[in-house]
Amino acid sequence: MRVLGIETSCDETAASVVINGRRVYTNIVSSSLGKHAKTGGIIPEIAAREQAKAMIPVLKLALGNLSVKQIDIIAVTQGPGLIGSLLVGVETAKTLSYVWDKPLIAVNHMVGHIYANWLLPKPPTFPLLVLLVSGGHTELVLMKDHGKYKIVGSTRDDAAGEAFDKTARLLGLPYPGGPQISKLAEVGNPSKYPLPRPMLESGDLDFSFSGLKTAVLSLTKKVSLTPKVKRDISASIQEAIIEVLVEKTIKAAQKYKVKNIALGGGVAANIRLRQAIKERWGGKLFIPPPPLCTDNGAVIATVAFYNPKLTNWSKLEAKPNLTY
Ligand code: KG4
Ligand code: ZN
Repeated sequence: MRVLGIETSCDETAASVVINGRRVYTNIVSSSLGKHAKTGGIIPEIAAREQAKAMIPVLKLALGNLSVKQIDIIAVTQGPGLIGSLLVGVETAKTLSYVWDKPLIAVNHMVGHIYANWLLPKPPTFPLLVLLVSGGHTELVLMKDHGKYKIVGSTRDDAAGEAFDKTARLLGLPYPGGPQISKLAEVGNPSKYPLPRPMLESGDLDFSFSGLKTAVLSLTKKVSLTPKVKRDISASIQEAIIEVLVEKTIKAAQKYKVKNIALGGGVAANIRLRQAIKERWGGKLFIPPPPLCTDNGAVIATVAFYNPKLTNWSKLEAKPNLTY
């Protein structure tokens, strides 16, 4: 079965064809990030305009040499995300479903991040604990089967990706801050500036990152931001975020007696996080390759293959606050 997956929830315009939920035929991602780097965040209006322009060329590339007849199902991100961005993908998918007469499946973006793990050579087995870390979400999700999600921990304020992005901004680094901090951290000293590990000892499985942002703000007021200082602060920020993520994930796996841990979402592309959890976790670990951690259409197609719940195109609406 060939599924065409479409993803436009944030700044990417992405489309992909995945065969039988496991084999990526194409995975095309066009990003408008360059247009947002200087502003410190995504400008929704600009993102949506760029997506409207990129959608057809991206679809053409994703179809490759396939004819319309060879596509069996269309899958699209319904939410959560930016409304203008979501609308581009959702309305495109609805149009294609009607004109091509193909079944349509609506997919939750966060579930897409989870299913990046089903594109690994050896996919996970259940029960599975997923650390889901993106720009807008930080969640620990317990999965007992396909389509069954229980959120056992989440952030009380900023998401992990947001913590990277906001603290990067305080250091004068461009958006998105995660990859920037990660790059500087490679040559910085993570013990130089002792930053708080929020909620590490809270006894529950929740996260909070706004205190870290405040601590970095007061630190940047005390020091002169030379390149060396920026490298050391970056390494210290990264270490603080990663330590909390890893420790809480391990605690959750122990509490729910789960042997399998998976990562998902843009922050899962972070090299230090990938390394730190490998060092700490003795059970089975599933980590998608970095291009499948960040937003793409292949993971959306994969969700549809494993969760084939059809939607009528005339009833589908983009939902910016979609939960699961
Ligand atoms: O999942 P994603 O691509 O989009 C959302 O659904 O939000 O995640 C984007 C987030 C941004 O906050 C970005 O800074 C972060 O993922 N990110 C990283 C890295 N690559 C992307 N954070 C830390 N280290 C990275 N290498
Ligand atoms: Zn995402």
